[in-house]
Amino acid sequence: MEIQTNYSIVTGTEPSFPEVIYLDNNATTPVDPRVLKTMLPYFSENFANAASTHRFGLAAHEAVKKARQQVADLIGADTHEIIFTSGATEAINLAIKGVAEAYSHKGTHILTVSTEHSAVLDTCRYMETKGFEVTYLPVQPDGLLDFELVKASIRPDTILVSVMHVNNETGVIQPIQEIAYLAHEKGALFMSDCTQSVGKIPVNVDNLGIDLLCCSAHKIYGPKGIGALFVRQRKNRIKIPALIHGGGHERGLRSGTLNVPGIVGLGKACELAQLEMAENEKKIREMRDYLETELLKIEGTWINGHREKRLYNVTNIGFEGVDSEALIMGLSNPEDDSPIITVSNGSACTAASIEPSHVLIGMKLTEYRAFNCIRFSFGKNSKQNEINLSSKKIKEKTIGLRNFNQ
Ligand SMILES: Cc1ncc(COP(=O)(O)O)c(C=O)c1O
Repeated sequence: MEIQTNYSIVTGTEPSFPEVIYLDNNATTPVDPRVLKTMLPYFSENFANAASTHRFGLAAHEAVKKARQQVADLIGADTHEIIFTSGATEAINLAIKGVAEAYSHKGTHILTVSTEHSAVLDTCRYMETKGFEVTYLPVQPDGLLDFELVKASIRPDTILVSVMHVNNETGVIQPIQEIAYLAHEKGALFMSDCTQSVGKIPVNVDNLGIDLLCCSAHKIYGPKGIGALFVRQRKNRIKIPALIHGGGHERGLRSGTLNVPGIVGLGKACELAQLEMAENEKKIREMRDYLETELLKIEGTWINGHREKRLYNVTNIGFEGVDSEALIMGLSNPEDDSPIITVSNGSACTAASIEPSHVLIGMKLTEYRAFNCIRFSFGKNSKQNEINLSSKKIKEKTIGLRNFNQ
């Protein structure tokens, strides 16, 4: 099958391309034109190596410095606590492997959650092969951790507690401030994968008690292939070893010539996210709530995840008896001229898997029901008319698929 690569996201701009209603913003977001504009000069006009000491290099260095400040400002950190990486996955690997290696003299136990992103889970599984013991805490059916269980599970030999802030599949927000407090009380470090929260809701590393934080540009209208790790230096000077060795860039923690356009893009994306957070939240929440209300009118539908303790841009809905893969295909391959609707049934990183979502299984859904669920994730470019159309199409397709199965 030939895969088409040209799509028109904005209704009406390129009538020759199929139009797309993009409701998969937790998988990735388009680069904001203002971010792209900021990045472009660093590909060609000023392509200098930020480590070069000539004037050309210094200009690139200055651009990186500004971006580091923009990232630090968004999360309430100091610039020397920000390490640029190739994305959240690398930041997570650097954090977990780094803490494990640096603190193994204190203990070899790591505590995390069964519904984390695969970047955390797979890194923890790898650490098990290196002699570390990992506890994967279960969540309650609403996706939230049981606070008492967390408390009881942190041991004297626990060196790291790693709990994501916002779940990428359900939007469930964990009470990380309280969990960080528990971790610190028992002498463990607290790390949080904040890939889905940074830039969407206020995240302040000091208020939340985070020692290590991971984030990524492409979830907040920045480019792919760039992210950051925050490693606390104030109050507690955390020292971890590098994963990638070489020229000693990024305070020796991440060698390799800096991706200046990417870093500049991440910085600009952070600046815009901070400026426009409240405005984006209001309009996105309204659209999410509207679609959710409309879809819940379909018989045999339900929401996965706590109704309130959930990010405003996501809804994960179950459609009893409807195979999610068939619904995704139906919405993205319409017979008529109507736009393609892009949604997903799990993390984009595990999309190739035919296993049910580990997040939904972790929330005690049966395998059968887990295969009935779709994630709709909205973004700042979503439009109400698109949501109206999506609601109508999803209702039609759901009924069609149910009739077909009978
Ligand atoms: C919660 C979470 N953590 C980590 C990642 C990995 O991010 P990246 O693509 O920057 O490696 C993602 C992206 O899917 C995510 O949603």
